[in-house]
Amino acid sequence: MSDSCGSVSRRGFIQRAAGAESSLLIARAELMRGAGNGKIRAGIVGVGLRGAQTIIEFLSGNDDVELVSIGDLYPDNIEKALRTVRNSAEGPAIESKLKADREHTFTGFDSFEKVLASDIDLILLVTPPVNRPREVEAAVAARKHIFAEKPLAVDPVGARRVMAAASKAEDLKLTFGVGAQRRSQPEYQETIARIKDGAIGEIVAAYAYNLASPLPRLNEKPAGMSELEFKIRNWPQYVSIGGDQIVEQHIHNIDVIQWILGRPSKVVAMGGRAWMPSNWVYGDKYDHISAEFTFPNGVICSSHSRHYRKGCFMRNGELVVGTKGRSSCQDLAPRGPLPPKVQEQVNLVKSIRGQGPYVNLGVAVAESTMMTIMARESAFSGQEITWEMIMESTLEFAPPAPDRLPPSGVPGPAAPGQYQFR
Ligand SMILES: NC(=O)c1ccc[n+]([C@@H]2O[C@H](COP(=O)([O-])OP(=O)(O)OC[C@H]3O[C@@H](n4cnc5c(N)ncnc54)[C@H](O)[C@@H]3O)[C@@H](O)[C@H]2O)c1
Repeated sequence: MSDSCGSVSRRGFIQRAAGAESSLLIARAELMRGAGNGKIRAGIVGVGLRGAQTIIEFLSGNDDVELVSIGDLYPDNIEKALRTVRNSAEGPAIESKLKADREHTFTGFDSFEKVLASDIDLILLVTPPVNRPREVEAAVAARKHIFAEKPLAVDPVGARRVMAAASKAEDLKLTFGVGAQRRSQPEYQETIARIKDGAIGEIVAAYAYNLASPLPRLNEKPAGMSELEFKIRNWPQYVSIGGDQIVEQHIHNIDVIQWILGRPSKVVAMGGRAWMPSNWVYGDKYDHISAEFTFPNGVICSSHSRHYRKGCFMRNGELVVGTKGRSSCQDLAPRGPLPPKVQEQVNLVKSIRGQGPYVNLGVAVAESTMMTIMARESAFSGQEITWEMIMESTLEFAPPAPDRLPPSGVPGPAAPGQYQFR
């Protein structure tokens, strides 16, 4: 690791970080953090592609943890997930921690409530994003520790609901981990601490990129499958369930910018569909959005996200430029020893046990989520959107009941100038 562009020595940084951690530990010692040294009993809701991996990461990263309850809309997804877990390299070692019996395996729209009502300390929330505000609110009300996949909402009302619930979780000293895994990676943590300490001078500009390929879950609408089921199974393509790519994927990069620069004062964004046809498979999302965020100190962040077909240029990362150098936000420290998504499960459990720093990423990642939503709304409407405007927005996709989403038909992508921001 190079110290050449910073006035702060690595040893000085580590000493301060260790001091901060031990003061957190002292502060945390008398706080309620769940299961102490006993077994941590977890339930999971949403066991698709990511949910299956979350089970593996949670169980393989930690001792004295058990998965005692599983929920998903569809039985076939539960069967597939359990096969994936058992056939994984970690499968034999974690088999004994898989304790969800038939009575604690739930399907249907009320599976979330049933998992939450099981005898659990921790709930892992890995359903599509539209569900997150209602799930997080209910989990905090039930005083459960939380791991929630990003993004934390798809609309401004939802993001504000999560901010409020995350603050309440903090008051209750509930751990609230979020699948914004860069926040758990030592190389990001230490590099960003050094950037904030002046390692690259005053920040003058920032960049965030998520130039990726598309994520449809189904290639066509099977005969006989209801519109509702098709949309839920193909959720990344529908703005009202997945939020659009900038919200659902580019949040990883925008979250790093939020971590360094805080909330923006405004954004202007543009985007559209360069190649995606308007049909069931591709839903109503844009296939590209570029945004310019302005922060209260005048710094500008350019962000670029797109879902272009394989063979196009791809890029995923961040760049911050300062008066004395530049950083990829992870290049001033060595990589951590564990895969990022295992590390986040380790940090989560240590926080619950009171054996590591308290983790509550809820408010911070709800703010990053809000940044992505304000950029999407700017691109859709053609308007400049300020932080005050998005914090007062009444837009809410989340339906009054979870089995009534989303609106019927395939709505076309938003037309700037016609689409009304509200
Ligand atoms: N951190 C990361 O790098 C990362 C990577 C991929 C996905 N994710 C996030 O993980 C979440 C899930 O993504 P995925 O790729 O696993 O999607 P997926 O479609 O593969 O799985 C979602 C699962 O949730 C179930 N489900 C849907 N609605 C439900 C409901 N109301 N109640 C119970 N179950 C319900 C579906 O049946 C499905 O099994 C998303 O928020 C996504 O953004 C994060």
